[in-house]
Amino acid sequence: LSEEAQNILDAHEWVSKLYHHLLKHTKEGKQGNEYMRNRGILDETIDAFQIGFAPNVENFTASFLEKKGFHLQTMVKAGLLTAQMEQVYKDRFRGRVIFPIRNHQGKTVAFGGRIIDNGEPKYLNSPETEIFHKGKIFYNFDLARNHIRKTGEVILFEGYLDVIAAYQAGIKNGVATLGTSLTEAQAKLLKRYVDTVIICYDADRAGLEATNKAAKLLQQSGCTVKVAKLKQGMDPDDYIRAYGNESFHKHVIEASVTYMSFHLDYLKKDFNLQVDSDRLEYIERALDEIAKIQKPIERDHYVKDLGESFEISNEVLQQEIAYRRRKID
Ligand code: CTP
Ligand code: MN
Ligand code: MN
Ligand code: MN
Ligand code: MN
Repeated sequence: LSEEAQNILDAHEWVSKLYHHLLKHTKEGKQGNEYMRNRGILDETIDAFQIGFAPNVENFTASFLEKKGFHLQTMVKAGLLTAQMEQVYKDRFRGRVIFPIRNHQGKTVAFGGRIIDNGEPKYLNSPETEIFHKGKIFYNFDLARNHIRKTGEVILFEGYLDVIAAYQAGIKNGVATLGTSLTEAQAKLLKRYVDTVIICYDADRAGLEATNKAAKLLQQSGCTVKVAKLKQGMDPDDYIRAYGNESFHKHVIEASVTYMSFHLDYLKKDFNLQVDSDRLEYIERALDEIAKIQKPIERDHYVKDLGESFEISNEVLQQEIAYRRRKID
């Protein structure tokens, strides 16, 4: 580790303690505390994730770091401060709830800051630095690691609050990417730990697209992929707050479907199934996918499903599959 990298690590440790203290014990941090409380986050969870608050003051963090003897230009590189003409140093995070981002060894290397209530951007994150590469780490991997090993499964979420709400609901093998799509490096990392990845992204258009992309990448890395489904428009945190922990376990995580089942559903987005010609086109498209499945039992399962959904005889569908298999083999 370079001296600069060590300084950046040390600064993150100090600042995360500062923000956490402010949220828990001070007038300055009260709105952060209330915000988290209103979102149903308990004190012990705030402690487990070292959640904090950065006050809405221009140079609160800057003067703290200066007093601690840090070189402020290095703190700009660390992403903790911004500088104008290398003279006026200001805090990057102001008036935001702070989620420390720990690397896989448990050291804080960056922050995600959520604005209180509405405003732009909703989340402000640390920039890439010498010690923080978004595409290589997962949020909460350090705490989740043992649970991931024990269960042989990892649950992939979109947001910090999804990981945190799931943790509070007793699901401790959850991680999240850091506001970017899953990378190949991240997929490979997961494959080293587990066979099965459950993707539990938001049930909106962006989440669906991201699920499809991540699932492909994970499959290419050799993972078995399952997809957890939520009610339209919800994310895991919303769901847990609306329906409770038990329902989340039972109706979302345990009810997650195979990648193929998700994929066949996902393909429907390009068709208007009320229209005959579109229905037929979709069925052809689905058959193409099903025919690629190697295991006969699995193939049969999806053929039956398709037949039942569209009221087509199994015999006809099996012929269509046989025809496609001859072309594949
Ligand atoms: N994100 C980000 N910058 C933004 C918006 C989102 O980095 N301007 C990242 C954050 O890591 C966030 C994740 O993308 O947690 C998912 O985004 P979104 O679903 O919009 O946020 P939520 O996690 O649901 O946030 P909240 O519940 O606080 O509204
Ligand atoms: Mn680097
Ligand atoms: Mn989202
Ligand atoms: Mn969300
Ligand atoms: Mn949310």
